[in-house]
Amino acid sequence: MLELIDLTKQYGSDMVVDHISLKVEDGEIFGLLGPNGAGKSTVVSMISTVKAPTGGEIKINGKSLRRFPMEAKKVMGIVPQDIALYEALSAKDNLELFGSLYGLSRNESKRRVEEVLDIIELADKKNQAVGEISGGMKRRVNIGVALMNNPELLILDEPTVGIDPQSRNHILETVKKLNKEKGMTVIYTSHYMEEVEFLCKRVAIIDNGKLIALGTKEELKDKMNASDTLIVFFQYAPEGIFPEISSIWGVERAEIESNKIRLLVHPAVKNVMDIIDRLRSIGIQITGFKFEEVNLESIFLQITGKSLRE
Ligand SMILES: Nc1ncnc2c1ncn2[C@@H]1O[C@H](COP(=O)(O)OP(=O)(O)OP(=O)(O)O)[C@@H](O)[C@H]1O
Ligand SMILES: [Mg+2]
Repeated sequence: MLELIDLTKQYGSDMVVDHISLKVEDGEIFGLLGPNGAGKSTVVSMISTVKAPTGGEIKINGKSLRRFPMEAKKVMGIVPQDIALYEALSAKDNLELFGSLYGLSRNESKRRVEEVLDIIELADKKNQAVGEISGGMKRRVNIGVALMNNPELLILDEPTVGIDPQSRNHILETVKKLNKEKGMTVIYTSHYMEEVEFLCKRVAIIDNGKLIALGTKEELKDKMNASDTLIVFFQYAPEGIFPEISSIWGVERAEIESNKIRLLVHPAVKNVMDIIDRLRSIGIQITGFKFEEVNLESIFLQITGKSLRE
């Protein structure tokens, strides 16, 4: 569906997108994850032809975007990070206006507006001026605009920043539904790893313009040899037991706090109950435990040494 080949954007000596190559397959929801200033919006702007690459190439359905921009634009819907709507116009009129900009006939546009209002669930607010509706609803209209031409590829640039949890959930569910029911390919840009984990099977992590990881969460976990965390709550542990805990097979690191032990578990461990059993057998009275699977946040931390939300 989409291919980036050595894509580069340079401002003076600043490489803000640094030789990124990746492929997004038909029908997938692909995550583009990275902290503020990583270069996510710059990548999106180059795909939407708002910015010209300094180097490299973008292909849509195998065709060069530079050579066939009009064809590419027909199959894409782009939701920009900054809301681009006419505040004085109603949701319905905004959608209709953008529909005609995309080249839909008046009748087509009118029909499509009703469909899109249903998808974004704003039919009841359609006549209200966009300037008067909530931030979350504006975001939904912004997404609606990108859906007017019924795109094969929908690209959303941080569509949930600064909105209420209800609108956020609505947006996430809508994206899932469009992918599942209409087979829409989606690129979802965010610095919220929970959203990307919820939506996307494959993810690209970018930092400082560079692609630093690409794959499914499981692949990244294997590649990084990332550890899961096991937290064990106890009411009694024998004095001086720490060295024994640390030397249990599969325990990479152990920390004891007042009534809990935090263990980093090596990926080779298939059953954490073996570790629990060992802890019991060395005299620890366990009252409960919690298992935290490795997540994209911890993978990012492991690669870059910093947190996604700095
Ligand atoms: N016109 C420009 N001239 C110079 N530098 C720019 C320009 N536009 C963007 N940049 C720089 O490019 C880098 C990447 O910015 P970009 O907006 O793509 O990041 P982002 O990943 O989308 O961040 P955010 O999560 O904050 O939206 C930043 O360091 C930014 O300052
Ligand atoms: Mg951005």
